[in-house]
Parts: sequence; C-alpha cells; structure tokens
Amino acid sequence: MYIVFEGIDGSGKSTLINFLFNWLNSRGYRVFVHKEPSKSKIGELIRRCINENADAYTLALLFAADRYHRINDLKEKISKGIVLADRCFYSSIAYQGVYVDKMWIREINKFAVKPDYVIYLDVSPEVAVKRKKHEKKDLFENVEYLKKVRENYLRLAEEENFVVINAEQSLDVVKKSVLNFVIRIIKERT
Ligand code: TYD
Repeated sequence: MYIVFEGIDGSGKSTLINFLFNWLNSRGYRVFVHKEPSKSKIGELIRRCINENADAYTLALLFAADRYHRINDLKEKISKGIVLADRCFYSSIAYQGVYVDKMWIREINKFAVKPDYVIYLDVSPEVAVKRKKHEKKDLFENVEYLKKVRENYLRLAEEENFVVINAEQSLDVVKKSVLNFVIRIIKERT
C-alpha cells in the first residue's frame, strides 16, 4: 500500500510520518518511509538548484529524474508492505505548477506510481512559515508563493480525492485523525 503525505513545508509531514512509522512498526506491520527529494546525487543537485533559484522547468525535470531514479526501489517497497511517503509527483504539480503548465508536469511524470491514498495536511503559509522560522529559509519559504502552492494543492485535493486534514489543529488531534484513517484503510484492505 502506497500512502503519500503532501503539504507545504511546516505542515507537519515528517512528524506524522515518524509517528505512524513507529506506531505501525511496533504492531508488526512491515512499513517503509520514502522521501522526495531523495538523498541521492540528484537530490543533492535539486537542493543546490533550489538554493540558487533555478527556474521551475529545470526543477520540474530534476524532480522527475529523482523520482524515476528510484522507481524500482519504491515499487519493491510497495510490494512488501506499507509505504509512508513524504511527497510524490503531486508536489511538482503544486510547487512547479505555479509557473509551469500543469499538463506538461503530468506528462513528464507519467511513469510515476499513483498513490493509493494521499493525505493532504492543510495549513496556511503564515502558520507554516512561523513554524519553520528557526530553520534556514529557501526559495520556497515565501508566503506569497506558498499561497499559490496551497491553491494548487486545494484544487488537486478536489480533483484527485485527497484526504484533507486541517493541520493547524494541535498535533495530538492531527495525529489521532491521521491514525484513525490509516487504521481504517488497513482494515479495509485485509
Ligand atoms: P523537502 O520536503 O523540504 O525536503 P528536504 O527538507 O529534505 O530538503 O523538499 C524540498 C523542497 O522541494 C520543498 O520546498 C518542496 C519542494 N518540492 C518541489 O518543489 N517539487 C517536488 O516535486 C518535490 C518532491 C518537492
């Protein structure tokens, strides 16, 4: 099963993925975490390009390359258990889609595995940026830009049936609702 978490930076994806990983793992489920961008050379290049304000077309192609590079690894994890993924090609549509034709982004990501479920953690850019203010800022931590990214996410959520969670609630509340959802889909599938 392939469950993807999407949301702007500061929405709490990694905290929730860690929590779910530990919860499922301690109950005997075979669970994997898959993160985009990767830690590979392509992932390193992407981070450098982000810091150097590369154009959105170049970034979209690099993110797609990073995805393609690990597709077999992802498919293997999906065949073995539950994959909790931090982002997928929907991030490219939300982020690069602010500047680049979304159909073209879909086209260059045609090979990508479609998630079974997408959990979208919705948070306003103001709250997200505040949560991350102790960290180094990059190209993507600009409230005006993130507002457009969020609009893209909300449109995608409707079109693609994402599970939308209000991630401005307390972490405990968000954890509980995500956990309940995940338990339900695991039960449905077994
Ligand atoms: P992030 O999840 O913050 O990774 P890390 O903390 O390991 O650097 O991803 C880096 C940025 O890349 C983030 O702002 C979202 C952005 N991004 C895209 O713009 N398009 C994509 O396709 C992906 C996967 C990420």
